[in-house]
Amino acid sequence: MRLRESGMPEEAYWETLLDVELILDRLALDRRLGHVAELGCGYGTFTIPVARRIAGILYSFDIDAFMIARTQERALTAGMHNIHLECRDVVAEGLGLDEASMDVCLLFNIVHGEEPVRLLREAARVVKVGGSVHVIHWRYDLTTPRGPSMDIRPRPEQIIAWAEEAGLDSSKSSPVDMPPWHYGLTFLRPPSTDQQLTTLAPDNSASSPGPRVRGCGSGRGTSPRSRRNAT
Ligand SMILES: C[S@@+](CC[C@H](N)C(=O)[O-])C[C@H]1O[C@@H](n2cnc3c(N)ncnc32)[C@H](O)[C@@H]1O
Repeated sequence: MRLRESGMPEEAYWETLLDVELILDRLALDRRLGHVAELGCGYGTFTIPVARRIAGILYSFDIDAFMIARTQERALTAGMHNIHLECRDVVAEGLGLDEASMDVCLLFNIVHGEEPVRLLREAARVVKVGGSVHVIHWRYDLTTPRGPSMDIRPRPEQIIAWAEEAGLDSSKSSPVDMPPWHYGLTFLRPPSTDQQLTTLAPDNSASSPGPRVRGCGSGRGTSPRSRRNAT
């Protein structure tokens, strides 16, 4: 199931709304990290820069074949070999990654969807104990030029409450400003998350390292121009 209000405007415009390198700096995404998972690659806005920074593989997923194809095109142009893309409905199927196999899981512009606790639990499941789940989201502010409707747009306190419900440690999580329009939150997987880890069924099919693309067939998903309910 496609998450509500998860469509996007045109790529060039979308990418004027985010200071990608600042965001990745503030989340300390760098060479010290091994494998990383990303839910919703979109145009690859973060996928390529994250993959450039880390030492391991970036496993990135999207339900939309167009987004997977576009991100793959950018990865090839950039000569990246540490990106694994998969067209996958993460809500229905989970991330398909082994439990505790990632250093970090990224949930960027995504937790306004239905069942955020379920997604956070799945993110918590795949990261190692002590690993991080990073969330970025639009500020809860009517002046933002885009972003989900205010009635479903979470405030930072709401995201923290969801993360705690998902079994993540929020004790060091205070919102970090990501100008111009976003903020970020970092949660840690504590040792005691084990009882929460079975929510979304993984099939382990995406867990072997290597650059590749799976799923979705043609790569001709919904054109961004025709998207309704866009973020
Ligand atoms: C608002 S965009 C954010 C993209 C990217 N994270 C960014 O910030 O640039 C949300 C993305 O999530 C994808 N998505 C929506 N529902 C999904 C699902 N059930 N499984 C996987 N991806 C999904 C959409 O296709 C879209 O590309």
